[in-house]
Amino acid sequence: MEKPLRIALTKGRLEKDTIGLLESLGFDCTAVREKGRKLILPIPDANLEVVLAKAADVITYVEHGVCDMGVVGKDTIMEMNGKFYELVDLGFGKCKFALAGKKGDDFYAGIGVKTIATKYPNVARAFFEAKGMDVEIVKIEGSVELAPLLELANGIVDIVETGSTLRENGLEVFEDVAPISARLIVNTVSLKLRQQQIEALIEKIEAQLNK
Ligand code: PRP
Repeated sequence: MEKPLRIALTKGRLEKDTIGLLESLGFDCTAVREKGRKLILPIPDANLEVVLAKAADVITYVEHGVCDMGVVGKDTIMEMNGKFYELVDLGFGKCKFALAGKKGDDFYAGIGVKTIATKYPNVARAFFEAKGMDVEIVKIEGSVELAPLLELANGIVDIVETGSTLRENGLEVFEDVAPISARLIVNTVSLKLRQQQIEALIEKIEAQLNK
């Protein structure tokens, strides 16, 4: 038997859907479901070893090759810009990056440099650079929606899923930035050295997604 492929999964929002996908392939994920505080978990019938980690760490582990594959949101991929292959759009974890701000504001009016609050400074910078627009970016760690309410920023670049956080705070989307969903990423060396094992798993996943 070949040694197990190690796959890093993003904890939290994407966790349930990822495990659901693996189970739909017929794999017994009991060890992952009943993990307790354990961090490395086997899926023996898939010859997989699962690591649960924060999104940014999933990318770090895959880039460094200590995990062969990972499941992570396109939001984190866009922000971190790492060196790995992004091979499958898994279709769940759907949301979008959007530019938003106070309802009724004309974001592009006036000539002063606008301030943008965001958890994703690289995504925000790239978005405004592509427009040739100079902005000041302020990094915020959570509840970015507070920034325009507190008059720290003219707008935010953030994740919008249902839109209820914006709505409940008198904010609205000014412009969509990019669609987001969960992606399967693969270490570049692993894909060469363990091509058969990885491709077999990807084929199974794609067949399931296309059902
Ligand atoms: C995300 C995002 C928005 C919210 C969008 O935050 O930053 O605040 O979800 O979802 P909605 O459109 O369905 O309202 P998260 O819950 O991850 O918390 P955080 O702000 O503390 O990061």
